[in-house]
Amino acid sequence: MLDIRYRTCLLTGASTGLGEAFARMLLAEGVRVWGTSRDVARVPAGVRPLRLDLEDTDSIEEAWRTAEAESGGIDLLVNNAGSGVFGGFPAGGVSGFERQIDQLLKGPARLGARALEGMRARGRGCIVFVTSLAVEFPIPFMAGYDGGKAGLAALACSLGLEARTDGVTVIDFRPGDYRTGFNQSMARISEAGEVADATRVWSVLERKLARAPEPTRAARDLRRALLRGRGGVVRSGSFFQARLAPFLARFGTERLRRRLAARYFGLG
Ligand SMILES: NC(=O)c1ccc[n+]([C@@H]2O[C@H](COP(=O)([O-])OP(=O)(O)OC[C@H]3O[C@@H](n4cnc5c(N)ncnc54)[C@H](OP(=O)(O)O)[C@@H]3O)[C@@H](O)[C@H]2O)c1
Repeated sequence: MLDIRYRTCLLTGASTGLGEAFARMLLAEGVRVWGTSRDVARVPAGVRPLRLDLEDTDSIEEAWRTAEAESGGIDLLVNNAGSGVFGGFPAGGVSGFERQIDQLLKGPARLGARALEGMRARGRGCIVFVTSLAVEFPIPFMAGYDGGKAGLAALACSLGLEARTDGVTVIDFRPGDYRTGFNQSMARISEAGEVADATRVWSVLERKLARAPEPTRAARDLRRALLRGRGGVVRSGSFFQARLAPFLARFGTERLRRRLAARYFGLG
């Protein structure tokens, strides 16, 4: 059981999708969970609800202070919350791009920094950054999302090296497509005269998500990684996205990879 290793967890984005599946898995494993949403009424039963908006620094600090004080020390931080913006770069102007970076990189980094202090002092803990396979296979018309997640993956790698002798484990958890409400909550920016390419890519994303695995599979993969207790990259998703594509990508040239990505997204 996971509670031998982790007694307490702060999980962001616990209200739905992957986060909700993570919350149910952690509760079933006997872990006490503090879970966040922008609307605390959406947090599942059994989880101590906290309000947190990744674009509101004060709410991040407040949620962290409350979780740390109530729990007596957070052993596991799962930085899961996030949403995307779809549209031609910079999708919503430069400020739209910056908001993606605030939400996907700066917010989780702030929580990671707070968690690290207590974990280092206690000599144990684990920080999970939920990034995306988009780190390895960027999605066209989602430059802010791709950039934010790639930055987060680099942060996870760097921190994993720094903290390895402190008893703190850092996991870069990279989901492929999962059947959640992610696309529905995505802001879709249609600039005047949106190119046909954007429409094609969007329909590929919709098709893939409709056929994607259920979030319980991601929860199973996260549980396994946490039980293993090792840091590093954990890919999770369908066999093609999480196993075959990353394996084959090692052998192709950069040019070939770009051509295959264009075909995958219906760009010719
Ligand atoms: N589903 C996929 O195919 C997929 C693939 C790769 C990576 N991911 C990543 O997995 C994570 C979870 O996504 P999901 O698929 O479960 O999506 P989802 O069903 O839309 O859930 C997103 C969660 O994040 C929270 N959230 C969204 N924007 C937020 C903000 N600005 N501040 C605070 N919380 C916010 C939402 O909470 P409230 O709305 O209740 O506030 C919700 O709990 C995300 O980081 C996503 O990038 C998902």
